[in-house]
Amino acid sequence: MEVLTTVSSETRLPKLEIEGVSKWFTPKRSLMVQALDNVSLSVTKGEFVCLLGPSGCGKSTLLNIIAGLTKPDDGRVLADGKVIEGPGRQRLVMFQESALFPWLDAFGNVMFGLKLKPDLTNAERRKIADEYLDLVGLEKFKHAHIHELSGGMKQRVALARALAPDPHVLLMDEPFAALDAMTRDQLYDDIQRIWMESRKTIVFVTHNVREAVCLGDRIVLMSPSPGRIQQVFEIPLPRPRDINSQELAAYASKIAAALKGTANGASSE
Ligand SMILES: Nc1ncnc2c1ncn2[C@@H]1O[C@H](COP(=O)(O)OP(=O)(O)OP(=O)(O)O)[C@@H](O)[C@H]1O
Ligand SMILES: [Mg+2]
Repeated sequence: MEVLTTVSSETRLPKLEIEGVSKWFTPKRSLMVQALDNVSLSVTKGEFVCLLGPSGCGKSTLLNIIAGLTKPDDGRVLADGKVIEGPGRQRLVMFQESALFPWLDAFGNVMFGLKLKPDLTNAERRKIADEYLDLVGLEKFKHAHIHELSGGMKQRVALARALAPDPHVLLMDEPFAALDAMTRDQLYDDIQRIWMESRKTIVFVTHNVREAVCLGDRIVLMSPSPGRIQQVFEIPLPRPRDINSQELAAYASKIAAALKGTANGASSE
């Protein structure tokens, strides 16, 4: 693994420590697939890290291990210095498909996320749900049913639902991949604004180079068969970043070239 630049993290605390994680799957009895091979990475508190790489390089597997949804076969992951043994309300995941409850409206979905905070009164939950629907720009669609919302609006509801319980870490698995380019561009602005306000630690999976450069403090480039960290790039561009800017394009082309070196390549759109 080559580290191009390192973050000046001496004074900053690690939020997540991924230590020598390996994972094997056995999709058929005679076949063993190594999804991750000795992956180590430290993520600082408040950092926005993008996992980038071609299909099958183990991005989702690594994210699920951080979430505590999958157990590593080797190595371990620590959150705030404690080994992750299972899912926890401090690490919430947002997937590509919004996985919202269709029988609840937008408000009901955000309220459901707040069940993770049993210490709150119902009035407090309602207030928080309203605040987060405001934050993602959906205050007017509070009582809209999920099927009445566009793909981008559904992902906004999912984002509000994940943020409302105030997790320390937000884990996002290609959350905007199914959306059209214009909706995505708007969401890049929103997620950056929300991150700058909340300073959550975010691990964001993508196979889109520009998206990674637009959002990440660091980009962790992974390669497949077996999944490994290939290179780590620091992106020192000021924020908020415009995905269509020339500075961003210059970084993207450098990273896209590195990505071509990985087995299958990926989208640099
Ligand atoms: N539950 C599972 N059972 C069997 N094999 C699996 C399972 N989950 C992942 N794999 C295998 O592990 C490898 C890594 O998969 P993973 O889904 O983590 O990749 P990815 O980088 O997220 O890919 P994509 O960009 O397509 O989402 C692949 O070879 C995949 O087939
Ligand atoms: Mg995946």
